[in-house]
Amino acid sequence: MIGTYEGARKALEGDLPHLASGTSRHVYRDGNLVYKIDIGWDESNLAEWDTYQKILSVDLEPNIALAETNLFMVDDVPVICMEYIDGQPMADCYCNLVGEEHNETCLDAGMAVVISKYIDDTGGMNVVIKDGIYYLIDFGE
Ligand SMILES: Nc1ncnc2c1ncn2[C@@H]1O[C@H](COP(=O)(O)OP(=O)(O)O)[C@@H](O)[C@H]1O
Ligand SMILES: [Mg+2]
Ligand SMILES: [Zn+2]
Repeated sequence: MIGTYEGARKALEGDLPHLASGTSRHVYRDGNLVYKIDIGWDESNLAEWDTYQKILSVDLEPNIALAETNLFMVDDVPVICMEYIDGQPMADCYCNLVGEEHNETCLDAGMAVVISKYIDDTGGMNVVIKDGIYYLIDFGE
């Protein structure tokens, strides 16, 4: 189990450095961990925890991994803790459609199809590649 209740509480109280925000969560960094707080009434954190258990119970395709994840309840507020993946964020690319050169964020179309077996949103920098392994870092909804 990763993370601490204390770390989760700090994230909730804004006592950790802000790393990034998506459409559903604010993400705070604590060394080799991140803590995620739902924005507004979003319930991505509970959904992420649920999906985590489901994906853990199936065999993942080669070169795909789940960032280790944990859930803390702080005063009834769900806080996701996740291993920080220090790699290159990637997302679906539309370079071919718009006639642009690919860059390091472009997820290979074949890989995007494989990854979409596990997560719905392959378009939002929800995959981080590190040492040739595609880590899923957002399986909320
Ligand atoms: N485990 C992680 N390792 C590294 N960066 C992360 C991790 N989790 C989130 N991030 C960063 O925070 C951003 C927003 O987190 P994400 O979980 O995708 O939130 P949302 O559900 O709002 O899209 C990600 O796109 C990524 O840049
Ligand atoms: Mg996301
Ligand atoms: Zn591209």
